[in-house]
Amino acid sequence: MSVSVTRLQPDFVAEIGGLDLRRGTDDETFDTVLAAFHEHPVLVFHDQNIGDAQQIAFSRRFGVLERNVTDGLGGPPEIANLSNVEADGTLAVAGGDRDKFLSGNQNWHSDSSFKSVPAMASILSGREVPPEGGGTEFTDMRAAWDALPADRQAELERRTAEHSFLYSQGKISVDLMSEEEVAAVPPVHHPLVRIHPETGRKALYIGRHASHILGRPVADGRALLAELLAEATRPELVYRHRWRQHDLVMWDNRMVLHRGRAWDGSRYARVMHRTTIAGRAEDNPWIVEDKVA
Ligand code: OGA
Ligand code: MN
Repeated sequence: MSVSVTRLQPDFVAEIGGLDLRRGTDDETFDTVLAAFHEHPVLVFHDQNIGDAQQIAFSRRFGVLERNVTDGLGGPPEIANLSNVEADGTLAVAGGDRDKFLSGNQNWHSDSSFKSVPAMASILSGREVPPEGGGTEFTDMRAAWDALPADRQAELERRTAEHSFLYSQGKISVDLMSEEEVAAVPPVHHPLVRIHPETGRKALYIGRHASHILGRPVADGRALLAELLAEATRPELVYRHRWRQHDLVMWDNRMVLHRGRAWDGSRYARVMHRTTIAGRAEDNPWIVEDKVA
């Protein structure tokens, strides 16, 4: 296999070619992909007509996978099935539970930032993509950090944010979560700035689950988070992915935020399967060792 790395947005997004994930990846190929991933927190692979087992096998090369609570659609626990197709084959109704749940992804976020050990990376496979709309956008939080003046960086570097799934889901609908679900994801604290363990690059770590800043009035913290998000999602920092069927896109949740875009869910199915690579001790130096996956 001869794998190629094409820079789509230098230092941010690269396309990996010459790879057929149905056949697995040898060590040399994997090393090339991993090096490309360290430099480019978003990787695009076209024409990967894979199933869940192949997606899981590829994802496992990067680390331990997160498991999902049941979504009512069956499938292996390592797969988050972001699908607007119900178990009976009908399209999810606008305003229904599945639609509301999926709509959360249309706000800028980092996957699992509400967990005590947040995700390292995510891999999303476009199994069925709508002919229009339904793109995914990524913004480079390293560039967002680098653009801040030094005195602002120094102030932010000392700060910790509270991330909470109850807060982020509550903005969509107060009754989206059961008491058990709420109890399973208590609020967690993460630094506002994260450091990539291999490259040393810093990135602003915020997004929709970030509720407020510790040690500051909640309203102040929210205003600061909103201001930072607006700056970080300036058009020039954003990559817009337009899905082709069988695209696979991988991103570094430590270094980028992402959001899905709307599409006409009353006409078109959109079936996306995601694997999520758990954070590791070196990704989360602020967390006590025994809590890290
Ligand atoms: C995700 C996600 C957005 C989309 O897979 O984590 O947020 O475009 N997806 O489906
Ligand atoms: Mn997501």
